[in-house]
Amino acid sequence: MKIANKEYRTIWYEDSVVKIIDQTKLPHQFIIKDLSTVKDAINAIKTMEVRGAPLIGGTAAYGMVLAIQENNDLDFIKKSSDELIESRPTAINLKWAVDRMMKKLSGINSDQILDIALKEAKEICDEDEKFCKNIGLNGLKIIAEIYNKTKKKVNILTHCNAGWLATINWGTATSAIYHAHQKGIPVHVWVDETRPRNQGANLTSYELNEENIPNTIIADNTGGILMQRGEVDMCIVGTDRTLSNGDVCNKIGTYLKALAAHDNNVPFYVALPSSTIDWEIKEGKDIPIEERNSEELSHIEGVDENNEIKKILIYPKKSKAMNLAFDVTPAKYITGLITEKGICEASSDALKKMFK
Ligand code: MRU
Repeated sequence: MKIANKEYRTIWYEDSVVKIIDQTKLPHQFIIKDLSTVKDAINAIKTMEVRGAPLIGGTAAYGMVLAIQENNDLDFIKKSSDELIESRPTAINLKWAVDRMMKKLSGINSDQILDIALKEAKEICDEDEKFCKNIGLNGLKIIAEIYNKTKKKVNILTHCNAGWLATINWGTATSAIYHAHQKGIPVHVWVDETRPRNQGANLTSYELNEENIPNTIIADNTGGILMQRGEVDMCIVGTDRTLSNGDVCNKIGTYLKALAAHDNNVPFYVALPSSTIDWEIKEGKDIPIEERNSEELSHIEGVDENNEIKKILIYPKKSKAMNLAFDVTPAKYITGLITEKGICEASSDALKKMFK
């Protein structure tokens, strides 16, 4: 998608380095950063220079390429794959991508291994782009149906950033919105700010602006009253891990939005590529939920009058804070899962029928 009218993907390989857009600096600075070693890739995932489940997976795949470039030794490659998997716990795409790379590389001669790793990492990213495009074409049908009934602008609420910046391109939740906009359907997006890291305000609103899609940032607690007032036609969010029973783990606060949507008969959709499905864990309580540094809550970042990025403390110095990054929305609150293969019920039967 576009930034300042130029098309980008979120990650690419050029001249033996991996290029990423540093998301910790958006929306105030647009910086393309080079990752040269597997440690750089791990650090980019940990510090959230790259983030969003599919992009974390793509970065981990290219992280494996960087490991092989650095030291083409099986022990080093295995150690690097373990460290990559440990770099963030909740988004399943990370393990999925590293496991896929390791499977592809097993038994390959050392003189061929780099070429094969590069090809597979690119394939993982190309596939994500293709899947996200298809998710959008499937989700478009839901938006078009609402529009055909009302002939009015369709108001869509989204949480966090499940946009193209969280994937390789198109996004998951936003892909349907981009497709609807391109088809001339009038859409407006309510963007949850998404404290503490403000992925909604800093990333979703930013990327929608760059594509000229009308959007309004709201505080995370505003969605409920908007739904009561009939100002939300549907919600679409992304997911970091989708269980085979249809439960969905996504950015903290997603669950509360689903409860409000349920209480107000607002359809609540989750958009996902099949790479976020965890076929092993059976219950939401067993998903590892990332607990991040409480400084993300107690401090806030922005630009000062000289356009310099500054971080300031906003809590009482003596207060403790707790920062859980994800929650689990039970399948019963989800109207449907929008996948690359089609839309299905959030249930084990429907998911099995679609993917197994
Ligand atoms: O902590 P983040 O910013 O990596 O969390 C991202 C999300 O929760 C997204 O909604 C999710 O990864 C789906 S992205 C297509």
